[in-house]
Amino acid sequence: MTTPAKYLFKPPPQFSKRARISSFAEYQRLYEESIRKPSQFWAREAGELLWEKRWKKVLDWKPPFAQWFIGGKINVAENCLDRHLNGPRKNKAAILWEGEPGEKRTLTYQQLHRQVCLFSNVLKRNGVKKGHRVLIYMPLIPEAVIAMLACARIGAVHSVIFGGFSAASIQERLADSKAKIIVTADGGYRRGQIIPLKRNVDHALQGSHSVRRVIVFRRNYADIPIHEGRDVWWHREMEAVQAECPAEPLDSEHPLFILYTSGSTGKPKGILHTTGGYLTGVYSTTKYIFDLREEDVYWCTADVGWIAGHSYVVYGPLSNGATCLMYEGAPNWPEPDRFWKMIAEYGVTILYTAPTAIRSFIKWGDHWPARHDLSSLRLLGTVGEPINPEAWRWYHHHIGGDRCPIMDTWWQTETGAILISPLPGATPLKPGTATFPFFGIDAAIVDDEGREVLDGTEGKLVLRQPWPSMLRTIYEDKKRYKKQYWSEVKGCYFTGDGAHRDPEGYFWISGRIDDVLNVAGHRLGSAEVESALIAHPSVAEAAVVGRPDELKGQGIVAFVTVRTGIPTTPALRKELREYVAQQIGSIAKPDEVRFTEALPKTRSGKIMRRLLKEIATSGQVTGDITTLEDFNVLTQLIPEE
Ligand code: WT7
Repeated sequence: MTTPAKYLFKPPPQFSKRARISSFAEYQRLYEESIRKPSQFWAREAGELLWEKRWKKVLDWKPPFAQWFIGGKINVAENCLDRHLNGPRKNKAAILWEGEPGEKRTLTYQQLHRQVCLFSNVLKRNGVKKGHRVLIYMPLIPEAVIAMLACARIGAVHSVIFGGFSAASIQERLADSKAKIIVTADGGYRRGQIIPLKRNVDHALQGSHSVRRVIVFRRNYADIPIHEGRDVWWHREMEAVQAECPAEPLDSEHPLFILYTSGSTGKPKGILHTTGGYLTGVYSTTKYIFDLREEDVYWCTADVGWIAGHSYVVYGPLSNGATCLMYEGAPNWPEPDRFWKMIAEYGVTILYTAPTAIRSFIKWGDHWPARHDLSSLRLLGTVGEPINPEAWRWYHHHIGGDRCPIMDTWWQTETGAILISPLPGATPLKPGTATFPFFGIDAAIVDDEGREVLDGTEGKLVLRQPWPSMLRTIYEDKKRYKKQYWSEVKGCYFTGDGAHRDPEGYFWISGRIDDVLNVAGHRLGSAEVESALIAHPSVAEAAVVGRPDELKGQGIVAFVTVRTGIPTTPALRKELREYVAQQIGSIAKPDEVRFTEALPKTRSGKIMRRLLKEIATSGQVTGDITTLEDFNVLTQLIPEE
């Protein structure tokens, strides 16, 4: 059965005519070629970048460890900046920035280059050397990008921590990365409030730690304590250095950054990305999927604290010489039309955002976008979770004026770059599917035995071949890397996602099938929220599951048993929710805390989250309960009508 034509959104002919890949047949031909000879495809893409020394071998694959462009020397910052200074891009805007209170700044490629060189020297002056880890905990301001690129320029390894994470989360990441330096700001703005970034850093540094220096950017003149000998001001340091700083030629496999993300078990994992392969992946996908043109104003609304911010706010677009819009604050500040106002004002042509944001826009009402001229837009994108077809259609009509193709892009922190996505001039779209794999990406859907399933059957989404922007390992934990990604399905990278293909081969990704939650596009491990709860003195045991949420995709429900003698009051419920926010960050705050006498377990003592998920979602249990140890637990959990 094929899809009736009326359900397909074909690429507008005008769009296809100008696009790099202008028909589906061309995509198919190139895709097949790229799968037959992946090294050839990736070498061609890498060849468009600036290498100080060309590689000797494209790929060295000793499963599950890959090395790309071996023998090559390259610098990511040089590719994002210096490379553009020899021609007309020199005075082109690299960053158009707006703060939440409304300040505006523009940085041309030349200006950004100068700031990055200065800050590279500031890092050096403060003892940072090649290979050292630098934590960046900043608002979404140009200085966050400057700090990242400065690290890349001198071969330091950045680890950006999202500004919404708590002091305890900083501590955890510090303990793992053993960074000696933190770059932060006095505060950032969010929905009219000041986020006390420096204060959180101070809290995180109360115990023993590896940090020698904290560099503080002055964003909002917040009254903050300065620890003599440890804290220095960004602006003072910048005055003390020269603007000359050559880019360090780095091995293609030199680490570029560590980004922490949640897994199904234990503490967050430090996902390690390296230099040449990562840049090739983000450069190539940005070019083809957003089909970038010189005159575009490109806006990816992600924060630099997430992988989308690394790959599609910073490295992908800047390596392509794009003009990128950045906005510090909330989409509904001061009113729910902030995005639409900005699109009209800056003439944004490409908008890349998250389904959860789109669902909020729908809730706030059609009249907000309708007030603004959005006709500059030519292309839309989404990322973070499956987009429900209603949200897709709303986005297409109310934002894209029925003329802009929507790129539903599937990828992960671990994959570094987009792996499954339409191409705007080539792929007929269906609302709700990320469509087809990108060039060189061998995606498949398999059953528990690793056999490819038939079309229409749900299975595990895996990748059968390595790709340049893949994670190289979990920072200092090769064992966990192997176990987490390469042990579930023999010989394949397991994504943790479930998916099926329709009769026309489109990939429909249904979301995580492990114990990872996706709350408003943010990734959280059930285990992480559980250990935060268990750390509270009143809690004996906790189990955390997701349940469908209209706005956030998933909401968090925590089932909690308390220690003997502790009264289960509404006050305790509130306290526990706050406690989780303190331990992890407010994104992890449970929507609901349910007290229970016991948790359903298997005879071997494993909590049956599947049952809890059903109870949290529908209030009943329909699935198999034969392995349940104590049936009485169930009756207690299911609320009486
Ligand atoms: C998980 C990865 C990549 C940047 C943001 C999230 C889900 C992501 C899609 C999509 C269906 C998607 C998956 C994936 N996901 N994009 N287009 N369709 N699901 O990165 O935090 O590493 O999370 O997000 O479940 O595994 P992340």
